Amino acid sequence: MPKPQHNPHPPALTIVDHPLVQHKLSLMRKRDTSTSKFRLLMREISLLLAYEATRDLALEETEIETPLEPAQVPVLAGKKLCLVSILRAGNGILDGMLDLMPSARVGHIGIYREPRTLQAVEYYLKLPDDLPGRDVILVDPMLATGNSAVAAISRLVELKARSIRFVCLVAAPEGIAQLHRIFPQVAVFTAALDRCLNDHGYILPGLGDAGDRLFGTK
Ligand code: URA
Repeated sequence: MPKPQHNPHPPALTIVDHPLVQHKLSLMRKRDTSTSKFRLLMREISLLLAYEATRDLALEETEIETPLEPAQVPVLAGKKLCLVSILRAGNGILDGMLDLMPSARVGHIGIYREPRTLQAVEYYLKLPDDLPGRDVILVDPMLATGNSAVAAISRLVELKARSIRFVCLVAAPEGIAQLHRIFPQVAVFTAALDRCLNDHGYILPGLGDAGDRLFGTK
């Protein structure tokens, strides 16, 4: 059996252009997509993004018995993953990722944007104790100014996460630039790179407020 390839360095930015991802994202962008449909689409699209974001996970060979003979087969090496959701919209991505990786540990970082300055304010933090031994997938649907992502990554770096990758649905060029200016080593996976931010820090064309659309709060 050919040995699985392992590339430990994903590119800095991956735009997941798979047709299913693009189609689902277009449905999510529509103003009249209902809350329940939006939530379901976010869950489905997240599963597909997780597939891309975990493409470089290390494998190791193990011996098993098939019904016909012994075989050397690849399995995940270590499986030390931690999914970290930036509250509250990140939880929409978390659900889809957990469908694919049910035994991953889960952490939460509560961050809100101060509406006037758009600065990130942390209000909640709960992470597994053994972060130094874990590869983290940090999730938040919208990478807008990058301030929340940078605040969350700073926390994860401070707590010595083994590696960090960031998964979102829609990114603004401003957010990518800010994140990579401070943390060039963090690989970003997104379904779309949109045009720009408006004066209130919303992504254009975007999909609106991801948290409100996910939970029906507006
Ligand atoms: N957060 C959102 O929910 N939407 C945006 O467009 C930007 C930040």
